[in-house]
Amino acid sequence: MIEIGVLGAGTMGSGIAQVAAQAGHVVHLVDVNESAVQNAKRNLEAVLSKLVEKGKISADEHTAIIGRINYSSDILSFQNCGLIIEAIIEKIEVKHKVFEQLEGVVSEECILASNTSSLSIASIGSVLEKSDRIIGIHFFNPAPLMPLVEIIPSVQTSNQTLETAKSLIASWKKTVCICKDTPGFIVNRVARPFYGEALRIYEEGIADFATIDWAMTSIGGFKMGPFTLMDYIGNDVNYAVTESVFSAFYYDPRFKPSFTQKRHSEAGFYGRKSGRGYYNYAEGVELPKATEDNVIGQEIFERIIVMLINEAFDALFLNVASREDIDLAMMKGVNYPKGLLQWADELGLDWVLSKLENLFEEYGEDRYRPNPLLKRKVKALKHA
Ligand SMILES: NC(=O)c1ccc[n+]([C@@H]2O[C@H](COP(=O)([O-])OP(=O)(O)OC[C@H]3O[C@@H](n4cnc5c(N)ncnc54)[C@H](O)[C@@H]3O)[C@@H](O)[C@H]2O)c1
Repeated sequence: MIEIGVLGAGTMGSGIAQVAAQAGHVVHLVDVNESAVQNAKRNLEAVLSKLVEKGKISADEHTAIIGRINYSSDILSFQNCGLIIEAIIEKIEVKHKVFEQLEGVVSEECILASNTSSLSIASIGSVLEKSDRIIGIHFFNPAPLMPLVEIIPSVQTSNQTLETAKSLIASWKKTVCICKDTPGFIVNRVARPFYGEALRIYEEGIADFATIDWAMTSIGGFKMGPFTLMDYIGNDVNYAVTESVFSAFYYDPRFKPSFTQKRHSEAGFYGRKSGRGYYNYAEGVELPKATEDNVIGQEIFERIIVMLINEAFDALFLNVASREDIDLAMMKGVNYPKGLLQWADELGLDWVLSKLENLFEEYGEDRYRPNPLLKRKVKALKHA
């Protein structure tokens, strides 16, 4: 079994190290910050002890897993690794520097992967001499619990790098989806309207946060409504992703960020982590009640779901991923109750299209333009 290197011992790096060690690999977890290394060690040991208490792993397994994780602040510990997954700060200049250094330490065969959520894999790989070893391996937070991993080959990635990464991550009992090196990959691209359209509906005064959340959970069957979910993710984090996807798509109005979210973020209303977001989480404060009006609820659900479906069609149209992977990614990465393309079939493609056409006509905004592939499919169905 190859040894795995994980660079960055923060939220993602420690989760990834846990997954790899539980899968039986010797893992080297490295961070420049000595206290981050110590924190990760403490946290991982506590998490693994909890797993023993819950009966998920035995005491012997616990000892073996802990024994397989080495902690260090020196990348020289990566010398014998067959794969390194970088999970450091999301800044391209820092990643460039670090990947250059990594290549100086590892063997010719070692795969160099990034867990970046928003940066281009091609750009990260551009600093490598042997750039066909670069690949994106994108875990979701928390890495030990979320089943999805998006694997992103860039224009430089060799087939061998892709195949090795794919089978390795699948052997860690993760659901692997292959995705083109495009902004937001699958999940962070296709999910944008879940937040963006909900915020827009709120801004238009159609409903308040609680009612929109109620519509999406009770009528749509989603596990969490958009505002509850944004409060979990953190408005600062979710806003930053939206802005980065918006600019990466050359300011396509489909991805336009919302002032409501910007102001909440600027005010420090990040969500659960700051005690207040769209909702107030202070002790003793009751959460607002939804106005459970089925007509409005249905309208909210329909508007958000057709926008999500349109985005899923766009990802398929531009070959970002296969139909199966687009549906699987949304179910395993963000817990959607159904894949969006399957959902579209169930709702009826002509119904989805006419809903989008109505929005496009009413608003005259490019964000509502129906995807050409959806239009083609509806046309084909009519002529079948
Ligand atoms: N947090 C998420 O939900 C999430 C999900 C998927 C992917 N990601 C991506 O994973 C990466 C890490 O995110 P995170 O949330 O774990 O960040 P984090 O802030 O929790 O951890 C980053 C760690 O990297 C360390 N670091 C910074 N520069 C370094 C360097 N030059 N060498 C070694 N270590 C260095 C820091 O000390 C810190 O401990 C980012 O690229 C992010 O986009 C994050």
